[in-house]
Amino acid sequence: MSAATNRVAVLHGVNFDVLEKRDPDLYGGLSLSELEYRIGSWAGELGLEPIFFQTNSEAEFCGYLHRLGETADGVVINAGAWTHYSRAIGDALAVGAVPAVEVHLSDVENREDWRKVSVFDGLVEAKISGQGLDGYQGALKLLADRLGV
Ligand code: DQA
Repeated sequence: MSAATNRVAVLHGVNFDVLEKRDPDLYGGLSLSELEYRIGSWAGELGLEPIFFQTNSEAEFCGYLHRLGETADGVVINAGAWTHYSRAIGDALAVGAVPAVEVHLSDVENREDWRKVSVFDGLVEAKISGQGLDGYQGALKLLADRLGV
């Protein structure tokens, strides 16, 4: 029997545990559970098995990324503010070495200059930003295609 190739880790970084308390104009006013529920429905429609993880600890996030090759076939990553400065998290994603799509709810290209920088440049198949919740659906579709699901 061949190993499953439809497991997609959906990772959220720092401050996503309080998503519903953050600026609704930028982030939509949803809680992380509501966001994950929607992502889970889309994943199911595409035949993907989502695995959710969030932490505010950079060390835990790196540890999770190190093990990605064993736990998942692809990853949707929204590392929040770490995206813009944590070279350690960029290096850790490279260790996991599974196809990755970077997502941001807000339009990071048209906010402060520091948000235009991403430590995931060159490591991800695509970067989707400014599409709110729908960005995750696009990311899942890309990964389903890439994994041949
Ligand atoms: C974010 C954008 C980041 O710049 C910010 O620090 C976040 C959320 C987004 O989803 O739009 O925490 O990743």
